[in-house]
Amino acid sequence: NWTTGNVIEEQVARIRQQVGSGKVICGLSGGVDSAVAAALVQRAVGDQLTCVFVDHGLLREGEAEQVERDFVAATGVKLHVAKEADRFLEALAGVSDPETKRKIIGREFIRAFETAEKTLIEQAGSEGEQIKFLVQGTLYPDVVESGGGEGAANIKSHHNVGGLPEDLQFELVEPLRTLFKDEVRAVGAQLGLPQEIVGRQPFPGPGLGIRIIGEVNAERLELLRKADAIARAELTAAGLDSEVWQMPVVLLADVRSVGVQGDGRTYGHPIVLRPVSSEDAMTADWSRLPYELLARISNRITNEVDGINRVVLDVTSKPPGTIEWE
Ligand code: XMP
Repeated sequence: NWTTGNVIEEQVARIRQQVGSGKVICGLSGGVDSAVAAALVQRAVGDQLTCVFVDHGLLREGEAEQVERDFVAATGVKLHVAKEADRFLEALAGVSDPETKRKIIGREFIRAFETAEKTLIEQAGSEGEQIKFLVQGTLYPDVVESGGGEGAANIKSHHNVGGLPEDLQFELVEPLRTLFKDEVRAVGAQLGLPQEIVGRQPFPGPGLGIRIIGEVNAERLELLRKADAIARAELTAAGLDSEVWQMPVVLLADVRSVGVQGDGRTYGHPIVLRPVSSEDAMTADWSRLPYELLARISNRITNEVDGINRVVLDVTSKPPGTIEWE
């Protein structure tokens, strides 16, 4: 008999049993899952928990600031921000294979948590003790699609499942591992998290790293970040945030096409809009966004983002497409 109340009670008890009086860190990504996982752990073990927000340089515009503001305001949790963009960009240099990118990002996340742990121990001075537990907001579909479910094929290695290094020093705490996204949202709301957090559209842990088709570098990230900010702002302005499950914006970094702007020729990259509607991300359909909105997004991106001269719309359902392109 599934109720959010039961889930919370059961998970709080499990977490307490698992971690005892140990110290815990939780990676916050800015998304719903990690926020709800953190709130559950906080409910269970209070200030044994420190949240770590890894700024991997693959974030969208304004995202780091938003996490610091919204989540800390809502929960009062201890937050450590780890600025790790250089580490991730160096590790990703020259890599364009999707699964390799995912594995590198998963590994670097763990390395970043290990560094954060050392910093936190140092900061605590004589009180400092080793942190044994790492909380992750892994959901049921992440487990299934990473090949962890019974008889499931490995479709993608989610950064927090199939992308973990072998020599992991932390013991994982994963209170959402049996839940679907809508259930996670209900749990978050019941725990008192504000709508801005529980209603947020999904965003993958590997971030823009898997939305650049081709090699990831700072310049390409900058292009994508600008285009994505425009697309999201227009979707919000059209009042369609809650109707659309999420809208990845994807940079086809190795593709260029000829265009014309003013009196001149351009030779720029295309951007793909991938708005989808879905119940649980296991299946999805492409969203029938109003043409006026698509026109506005296209005009603005091609006018405002130097280097992008074409906007295309992905009209593939899942299956056969997945939501993200990598
Ligand atoms: P796909 O692309 O597999 O995506 O149809 C399904 C949902 O999962 C999100 N996604 C991820 N989330 N870590 C995450 O936290 C990941 O590695 C990851 N890969 C995909 C995706 O945005 C969609 O909501």
